[in-house]
Amino acid sequence: MNGKVRTLIDAETIQKRIKELGSQITTEYQGRDVVVVCVLKGSFVFTSDLVRAIDLPLSVDFLALRSYGDGTESSGVVQITSDLTKPIEGKDVIVVEDIVDTGLTMAYMLQNLEAKRPRSVRLASLLHKPARTRVPVKIDYLGFTIEDVFVIGYGLDYAERYRNLPYLGVLDLEG
Ligand code: IMP
Repeated sequence: MNGKVRTLIDAETIQKRIKELGSQITTEYQGRDVVVVCVLKGSFVFTSDLVRAIDLPLSVDFLALRSYGDGTESSGVVQITSDLTKPIEGKDVIVVEDIVDTGLTMAYMLQNLEAKRPRSVRLASLLHKPARTRVPVKIDYLGFTIEDVFVIGYGLDYAERYRNLPYLGVLDLEG
């Protein structure tokens, strides 16, 4: 638990990429009725920076998921522990996720949202680990592609710790 943290992506690089994604979303969603859906807990930091990089009227809602697994591996069995507060029927939804790893969580999530009949659903994910894909998921707005390492910081946790780091790091448990 007291391992050393090696920086993977520094705070400045994250902020620069988020500004680019925000500009792209601003251009592509002109005149649309946008709802940003933050998938808790991991994406709360990314969502807060991303929405401030989007220059459009929008609303923000939250979903909390519990993904069953052995700690660092998800099983694809996902439970919604807190649902959206408002209907998304007819809305243009942007789901904001911290990381697409196996893709199991997002595949379930996107299917669940489609059933609520939004006008459109797109996915923004800060990170993608393509080496671990089990279900392919289309990421419309991607921050960074990373190697198969377990990352922490900038909202992502290891046993609920490290979410408050302003950068993305890799935990060296031997350290
Ligand atoms: P997936 O279902 O395997 O795509 O897993 C997605 C979820 O697992 C993410 O939303 C994270 O909560 C968690 N997760 C996957 N990889 C990491 C990681 O490297 N660090 C922290 N959490 C991770």
